[in-house]
Amino acid sequence: MIALFSLALFFFASNLHVEAQDSESRIKVYANRGDNITLPCRLDGLSNLFGNRIKWTKLEDDSTETDVLLSMGFHKKTYGNFQDRVYLLEEDDNDATLVITNLDLKDYGSYRCEIINGMNDKTVEVDLELQGVVFPYSPRLGRYNFNFQNAEAACLEQDAVVASFEQLYEEWRSGLDWCNAGWLNDGTVQYPITKPREPCGGVRATAGLRSYGRRDKYNSLYDVFCFTASLKGRFYYLIQPKKLNYDEAVNACERDGAEIAKVGHMYAAWKLHGYDRCDAGWLADGSVRYPISRPRKNCSPTEAAVRFVGFPDKKQKLYGVYCFKPQP
Ligand SMILES: *[C@@H]1O[C@H](CO)[C@@H](O)[C@H](O)[C@H]1NC(C)=O
Repeated sequence: MIALFSLALFFFASNLHVEAQDSESRIKVYANRGDNITLPCRLDGLSNLFGNRIKWTKLEDDSTETDVLLSMGFHKKTYGNFQDRVYLLEEDDNDATLVITNLDLKDYGSYRCEIINGMNDKTVEVDLELQGVVFPYSPRLGRYNFNFQNAEAACLEQDAVVASFEQLYEEWRSGLDWCNAGWLNDGTVQYPITKPREPCGGVRATAGLRSYGRRDKYNSLYDVFCFTASLKGRFYYLIQPKKLNYDEAVNACERDGAEIAKVGHMYAAWKLHGYDRCDAGWLADGSVRYPISRPRKNCSPTEAAVRFVGFPDKKQKLYGVYCFKPQP
């Protein structure tokens, strides 16, 4: 019991935990948004790395590769979104470990470290996973209105990115059941079902992710599954003497030194930080929602969920507001 407890403490105390996988060359790293993390890669067996080419690439979900860092001796180059955010740890002559600073939502995924010296090449793959939450999203217009590009923009506006298959699968395993199909970042369209039923693919089909396969990114219209990670900042319900319309809600958060919260902020606060509040409040996209993590009478009695009230007329003075104050 004591051993278990201290193990749990260990996991809470360290943002980062590295786990060796079955094959010696595949490693998983777990992290939170904003962390500095290391992706391990060593070349033991060669006398030293100097003079070898070291190349780090990111393997994207649509099976393209993005350059991250290239090193040849003293010569180092970093690329794109990774420029000035990555470097080699170089603890000793055999160390090609990569450091990524200020981790963001787009950084999760698989990375490859290649050490190339012509005789004794070596490749290591590392999976970087962010602690996060997947949520379905559709706009004010109603369901099935996003092509792929609109879906990407919609997630970004909610402080999120389009979810990967693995992320949606994880969320399904922890209970997500959603009967509308949404884009994933590999260009497929899928939906997660935990309770098979007639209007959602039929009672005879098994539980799982139902896939429509790859769809035309320009012409096909669906919802989207977004992924967001733990918050760097404070999400809260703003106590106000009276109910607000949308513009008043935006201003009230600003006067409080914050901004009106996004849908992703609410999901992260609810799922990752246990936030619970039975007051319907405006969010930045003009929707009204409330997060319930302790189901009870009159507040989502049967399940922990972010409840969706709708996209009401923005002039209605009927709701409160949720604000977000980013960490400086
Ligand atoms: C991450 O690394 C950067 C640059 O090395 C440093 O300025 C920053 O304080 C570090 N952040 C954390 C959370 O350790």
